[in-house]
Amino acid sequence: MSNRNPDRDAIFVKSHVARDLLQSAGLFKTDKLVVWEYVSNGLQYVDPGTSPVVHVALDSKARSITVSDNGRGMTWSDLRNFFVMHGVNIDRKMGRSGRGRFGTGKSAAFGIADVLRVRTTRDGLRTIVELKRSDIDAMGSEDPIPVKVIAREVTTNEPNGTIVEIAQVNLRSLDQQGVIHYIERHLARWSKGVRVYVNNHECEYAEPPVAVEQHVFPVEESRDVIGDVELILKTAKAPIDEDLRGIAIYSNGVWLETTLAGSEGREMSQYIFGEIDVPRLDDERTAIPSFDISRSMRLNPNNETVRALYGFISVHVEEVRRALVEEERTRKATAEARRLREQARGIEKVLNEDFDEFRNRVARAKARQPGSRDLRAVVAGTDGQDLLFGSDESAVIVSPTGDLGHGDGDGGEGGGEPRNLDPVVEASDESAPRLGKHSGGKRDRRGRGEGFR
Ligand SMILES: Nc1ncnc2c1ncn2[C@@H]1O[C@H](COP(=O)(O)OP(=O)(O)OP(=O)(O)O)[C@@H](O)[C@H]1O
Ligand SMILES: [Mg+2]
Repeated sequence: MSNRNPDRDAIFVKSHVARDLLQSAGLFKTDKLVVWEYVSNGLQYVDPGTSPVVHVALDSKARSITVSDNGRGMTWSDLRNFFVMHGVNIDRKMGRSGRGRFGTGKSAAFGIADVLRVRTTRDGLRTIVELKRSDIDAMGSEDPIPVKVIAREVTTNEPNGTIVEIAQVNLRSLDQQGVIHYIERHLARWSKGVRVYVNNHECEYAEPPVAVEQHVFPVEESRDVIGDVELILKTAKAPIDEDLRGIAIYSNGVWLETTLAGSEGREMSQYIFGEIDVPRLDDERTAIPSFDISRSMRLNPNNETVRALYGFISVHVEEVRRALVEEERTRKATAEARRLREQARGIEKVLNEDFDEFRNRVARAKARQPGSRDLRAVVAGTDGQDLLFGSDESAVIVSPTGDLGHGDGDGGEGGGEPRNLDPVVEASDESAPRLGKHSGGKRDRRGRGEGFR
């Protein structure tokens, strides 16, 4: 017979608190992830009617980060709850769903730093507590970790609010721009009227300039799975940065992922963005959750809602993308045609200028012959009739041995018109001998619309 105490001997699921805390904290590897945890707490846990304002101070030199909010603050008992790893979210329990869900955000500081100090005021009472990595490391057991109390429920005139100080940051420097950018992306659809400042910069999300916007809704089976949601598809006026491309997926205003659902890297996908809010993704009762404690900004494709959502987004993103590709092809073809037309016009101009110059040179050469005069005027003054060697019209011989350009041996191309060996003549004034006759054809005298085309 055993004399063991059945209660003490039973098997329980328990947790090693110190290891749990540090492993949860390990998910917050960068300053922006850490800052966002405390900023989102500050924005969410406010008294009714308060417009949330959160100030973030990043001090690379002092290796510290401070996040101050005008939220509801925490009582002694709230603080006890604050330090419960994976604690139930009180607001959710009371039907107020929001960003907070897992109860691990408080550990974020230890992802990058060694000290977490919380100074919080509620209803005129201020409490300051501190937790250090050395206290956590010192835990040789699974037992709860004692938190150092610096001040307890001290009477104060300070309004409600909390200041979280993250000290002894182990990062080489703090990435202010990265933090701002990350907060701004998250604020894109956060409830209106919230303000966040990072080192005095007010975070504001500016969406890329939109060329076209369309709204689509799921039908039938996909509506049954993802709900009555609205997909907003936008085409940007110019290619957008890679991290802004795609459809931002939210659940009750909380940003979970941005995806092109398979169209990544495809032609014209760099112009597509948009958003969709799917409240169902926040359903905690599904066997396979749609997102997890890692805040990886990636949804779980094994979740039914996520799978259906990806399908829905993919179809419509591809539709928009194909239309853009088609539009771009037409635009390019039109531009190419215009370019070719301009090129042809340029060539035409060069040829015609050359030809004019050649004609002038010939005319000047004729004019230099003794007894001749500048025939440019004569040529210009004739009616453009071609003259052949003959005896009817006044003409001068411009070449005694035959016409230019016909079968003069150049290149040996056979088959052309045989060369005319008569002297070449041009019309002249009455004083010239009658050495020409009308051919009946027009000379190649270029006027408007004539010449090389
Ligand atoms: N700045 C704050 N002001 C008032 N209450 C706060 C503040 N920060 C946290 N709390 C309270 O402490 C609890 C624990 O915060 P924590 O961030 O660890 O978890 P959570 O916000 O519930 O969930 P998640 O881990 O998903 O962020 C919150 O649920 C909230 O009740
Ligand atoms: Mg939180």
